[in-house]
Amino acid sequence: MRSFSLIFKQFSRSVLLIAGFAFLGSSAYAQGDATKGEAIFKANCTTCHKIDIRLIGPALGPTVTSDTDDKWLTKWIENNQALIAAHDKKALDIYNQYAQANMTVFTQLSDGDVANILSYVRTAWKTQQTAAAKPGASGPAAETGPSDLVIYALIGVIILAFIIILVLNKVVITLERLLEKNQGLFIEEVAVEKVAVDRFAFARKLAKNKKFVFFTLLCGTLALGSWTWITMWNTNVHQGYQPVQPIKFPHDLHAGAMKIDCQYCHSGAYKSKNASIPSLNVCMNCHKTIDRTLNSKTASPEIKKIYDALGYDPQTQKYDSTKTRPMQWIRIHNLPDFAYFNHSQHVKVAKLRCQTCHGPIETMKEVYQYSPLTMKWCVQCHKRTNVDFKGNAYYTKMEAVHNLIKEGKPVTAAMMGGIECGKCHY
Ligand code: HEC
Ligand code: HEC
Ligand code: HEC
Ligand code: HEC
Ligand code: HEC
Ligand code: HEC
Repeated sequence: MRSFSLIFKQFSRSVLLIAGFAFLGSSAYAQGDATKGEAIFKANCTTCHKIDIRLIGPALGPTVTSDTDDKWLTKWIENNQALIAAHDKKALDIYNQYAQANMTVFTQLSDGDVANILSYVRTAWKTQQTAAAKPGASGPAAETGPSDLVIYALIGVIILAFIIILVLNKVVITLERLLEKNQGLFIEEVAVEKVAVDRFAFARKLAKNKKFVFFTLLCGTLALGSWTWITMWNTNVHQGYQPVQPIKFPHDLHAGAMKIDCQYCHSGAYKSKNASIPSLNVCMNCHKTIDRTLNSKTASPEIKKIYDALGYDPQTQKYDSTKTRPMQWIRIHNLPDFAYFNHSQHVKVAKLRCQTCHGPIETMKEVYQYSPLTMKWCVQCHKRTNVDFKGNAYYTKMEAVHNLIKEGKPVTAAMMGGIECGKCHY
């Protein structure tokens, strides 16, 4: 997918250039009213089109801005089926390129309406391009615990110590030889075997060196000790866990390239303890008509699995309820039962981004566990993150209780939220 996003980047860059040139001549055609166009666009087109990315239809910003033939665009938007039926070459090309998905016919729109839409699309695309050109967007903060640092430092020190020992030994040997040479005892080493024998002698000498033996043992113990330590801490930690799912569901396409909001599929995260996995009916909002990827000529076997599980026949577009079977996704993130974690508290109240805990999901071809999910991980973040008190009903209540305490008045459990359902039920 990286190559896809690269191509997309290059593509949008060249589009930016084209858009720049087109803008110079834009007064020639941009006569519509963008505000009116926005309303018409949102009412009729957003189910299938976005300005900047492909949904069911192509991204309209780049296409409409680079295609200045407004007469043709108007004909297409008002009745694309008529153009296709008339074997208009351009229309057929587009139709085939998008796996022969059908665009709705909009005979009810007037030429004026379409001019407004086009004007809106061009303005919106230009605004997005200018915004995108500005730097700033930053990725999710990576958390590296100090324990990792300590371990790396330790390994570094050990390696350094080894190097120093080797160098010192070399120096000692050279000095000894110089000494021998000075005393006229030096014998030229010519034979290859002699060198080999000398090497053994060197090893034997080292083995007799008490300091060296002590140091080697020390390093060995340290290395073994830290390995045991790390292994023990990582028992039952499944960071990086990536099971094989029944459908290879690509988050990078859906949440990344298509920018579908996480909430569309994981709405639970905003209002309850569990984020929830969407039912296949949610997928069918789009996949009823999309049975393949952008450039593919054949239907995708992965998408077919959705149809099979629902007993759906894409030919007749009918469901056979006797053939349905549940989709058995394999759970990736899993806390033990004795730990209580609530999504809405973190997503809605603390306003944390999903990516803070789940990593760059929108770039993952298949999801894996990004964070360790250890108690240390929870506690560290709780120590480092400031609570946002503004507009938070829970803390407004706490403030009231605080004032009552200062005034020396009695406080009941109910005042501290003790009769809220969530305190006792989940
Ligand atoms: C049901 C989904 C759907 C709706 C609703 C829809 N479109 Fe499309 N549109 C498509 C598809 C799919 C294509 C690609 C061509 C094809 O396969 O027919 C397309 C193609 C286009 C193109 C041609 C792009 C090119 O490459 O030149 C334009 C322009 C366009 N749509 C504008 C609109 C406008 C404006 C609206 C709202 C008034 C709209 N569409 C509503 C699905 C839709
Ligand atoms: C089109 C629907 C869809 C969208 C949009 C989507 N997801 Fe998912 N997500 C799924 C499905 C289906 C699964 C179960 C299959 C899997 O694990 O790959 C899943 C699984 C996950 C999991 C792993 C669940 C587990 O088993 O532990 C996480 C975490 C996740 N999604 C986070 C996100 C985030 C964050 C976003 C937004 C950036 C997002 N998802 C957008 C459909 C979606
Ligand atoms: C908003 C519309 C939309 C929704 C909702 C949606 N998809 Fe998709 N999906 C697409 C589009 C469009 C593509 C093709 C993208 C491309 O080719 O760039 C696609 C591609 C895929 C692919 C890739 C197929 C392949 O062969 O690589 C899989 C698998 C898939 N979807 C599964 C799912 C599942 C499972 C769900 C429900 C959890 C889902 N989709 C929900 C629009 C959607
Ligand atoms: C503070 C960290 C954190 C944030 C923020 C967070 N999650 Fe989670 N998520 C977790 C943990 C921890 C689990 C495991 C929960 C369990 O096993 O009970 C989990 C589990 C999941 C699961 C699978 C199991 C379930 O609960 O249904 C999905 C899907 C998921 N998260 C999606 C999301 C989405 C989407 C967002 C953003 C709207 C999000 N998460 C924000 C920590 C987080
Ligand atoms: C990325 C930071 C982050 C991580 C990771 C995180 N939390 Fe939190 N958590 C918060 C913040 C911020 C709040 C305060 C929310 C608020 O305003 O009430 C919070 C609140 C809570 C509360 C409510 C405390 C109260 O006083 O009512 C619980 C319980 C909780 N978290 C459990 C967990 C568990 C369990 C984990 C690990 C699996 C975890 N959290 C991981 C940031 C985090
Ligand atoms: C102080 C703790 C507490 C609070 C607050 C609380 N409940 Fe309960 N609730 C309980 C206990 C304990 C039971 C089980 C009582 C029993 O089995 O006789 C229960 C039982 C229930 C049941 C019956 C469940 C069943 O299977 O029989 C429902 C429904 C319920 N509560 C809803 C709520 C709602 C809605 C709220 C918020 C307005 C709420 N509760 C607030 C403690 C609480």
